[in-house]
Amino acid sequence: MDKQISALVYLSKEKYPFTEGGIQVLAQKSARKNAALHISGYLAYKEGLFVQYLEGPKNNLNDLFHVIRADSRHQIFKEIRIGELGKRHFKGWDMRHLEYKELHHVGIETVLDWLVYDQYQEKVPADIISKVWQMVSDIASLKALQKLQ
Ligand SMILES: Cc1cc2nc3c(=O)[nH]c(=O)nc-3n(C[C@H](O)[C@H](O)[C@H](O)COP(=O)(O)O)c2cc1C
Repeated sequence: MDKQISALVYLSKEKYPFTEGGIQVLAQKSARKNAALHISGYLAYKEGLFVQYLEGPKNNLNDLFHVIRADSRHQIFKEIRIGELGKRHFKGWDMRHLEYKELHHVGIETVLDWLVYDQYQEKVPADIISKVWQMVSDIASLKALQKLQ
């Protein structure tokens, strides 16, 4: 099951204001469905922008992403396909809501700040892709070290 794991990161902008509580509920509902689909990952939010990382079996991932893309509560404006992974990085995180205060260690602020500033630019510059990938790897390392659970 875990042999062919695909991953993607997307960035979206809310269409209606989300509260912390609203995101919490969204993450909990998502976690239940993702568990059934063998999808893991995390969701972070700042100033109306979401960053979500998803990994799982390719077909399940594509189907879920199709549903998420059609959700009228947000608008996806950037999508970074990471492609096939050798292994799952976020086992046990059915959909972890990463709070902003947890993210100081991982440099996600740089990525989010860049996005807040640059959200209307359609083309994803190469360096943001490498920053996003670095962020994914850093979060995976912290999880592996049990500094994030
Ligand atoms: C920013 C954002 C992230 C979401 N992430 C997920 C997710 O990881 N898993 C999920 O099942 N639904 C997620 N959703 C919700 C889906 O778009 C959709 O509402 C939900 O999957 C429908 O569930 P249902 O088929 O049980 O009604 C997300 C929605 C938003 C706005």
